[in-house]
Amino acid sequence: MSPLKILIVEDSATDYELIRYELAKGAIRYDSVRVETEEQFLHHLHAWNPDIVLSDYTLPDFDGMTALLLVQKHRSHTPFIVVTGSINEETAVNCMKAGAADYLIKDRLDRLPLAVRSAIERYRVEKDKREAEEQLLRHSEQLRKLHAYLQTAIEKERTAIAREIHDQLGQALTGLKMDLSWIERHSPDHTLTEKLQSMSGLIDDTITLVRRISSDLRPAVLDNLGLAAAIEWQTDEFRKRSGMACEVELPKDDIPLDLNKSTAVFRIFQETLTNIVRHSGATRVRISLKADGSRLTLTVADNGRGISQEALQSPSALGLAGMRERAVIAGGKLDIAGSGAGATVTLTLPMEVSA
Ligand SMILES: Nc1ncnc2c1ncn2[C@@H]1O[C@H](COP(=O)(O)OP(=O)(O)OP(=O)(O)O)[C@@H](O)[C@H]1O
Ligand SMILES: [Mg+2]
Repeated sequence: MSPLKILIVEDSATDYELIRYELAKGAIRYDSVRVETEEQFLHHLHAWNPDIVLSDYTLPDFDGMTALLLVQKHRSHTPFIVVTGSINEETAVNCMKAGAADYLIKDRLDRLPLAVRSAIERYRVEKDKREAEEQLLRHSEQLRKLHAYLQTAIEKERTAIAREIHDQLGQALTGLKMDLSWIERHSPDHTLTEKLQSMSGLIDDTITLVRRISSDLRPAVLDNLGLAAAIEWQTDEFRKRSGMACEVELPKDDIPLDLNKSTAVFRIFQETLTNIVRHSGATRVRISLKADGSRLTLTVADNGRGISQEALQSPSALGLAGMRERAVIAGGKLDIAGSGAGATVTLTLPMEVSA
């Protein structure tokens, strides 16, 4: 390891030598520079980039507190130890409050090597921690962006596939159905009638299936009629498929929300309903969508068994994690209250009028 660079603010040459003597006695490998004015101090702080600063408190042309504040301002990650001739409790407290790593008196300079070592070590640990936190933050930001990108790509793909299935398959099936009824009308062979009618019934079922597959992928109502209509439609579907009683409260007017946000709200709503069917054992669901001023609130409450804290915090709860992530990306937040009678999922989102 290269020697420590120690910047020493000291007007007395004798005290400087004493400090150097104690450091050497404590087996610290170091280079040092002595300064005694603000100008010299600032110059070395920037040009030499010391690992640690040791500073006298009172000097003829400078003082320890000013030096400390300068370090905090320019090089706040450099440890600063006050080394002073006389003890003054108030000054010591003020220095520690201002960010000094330690406070020593010159009569007890034998403590200096240990103080230097522990300050350096403490700042090193803090630096590592800070860097790890920054890296974690960068990574989670990157993951969030990736998640948002993937969600948008998935929605685009789903919309395209839904449209294709609906339009192409739907039209082909309708064409087939028209041809069948033409044959039925023009064929003199009545033995075919039954067969033709059964084929026509099969085509009807297939048309219904195609519509369902298409709207499961991406309901056209969301794109064409907006969020409130889509929530209403999805609630009807849910009621039919699950048999649960659903109370739904929707705003009279449609909500002005851009498509990304309404997609996020809609997908969160769908995931919430899926969870209710799969896990809650509920018999009743209350759904409310409100837009007051600039805030949208979607609440879905079931009367089932509720969600435990373990389930809420479980790293394998990817459905819930996806819901939270969608909410955050849309600029909102998701609250899930699990205890008591049933679970309540509340999504709040700031609204901006769509462009
Ligand atoms: N409405 C609810 N009532 C009771 N428990 C629920 C409810 N919603 C979620 N849970 C609990 O929370 C857990 C996590 O839900 P999450 O949606 O993350 O995962 P999942 O539904 O089990 O799987 P998937 O990844 O397919 O969604 C569930 O396994 C369930 O135990
Ligand atoms: Mg789920």
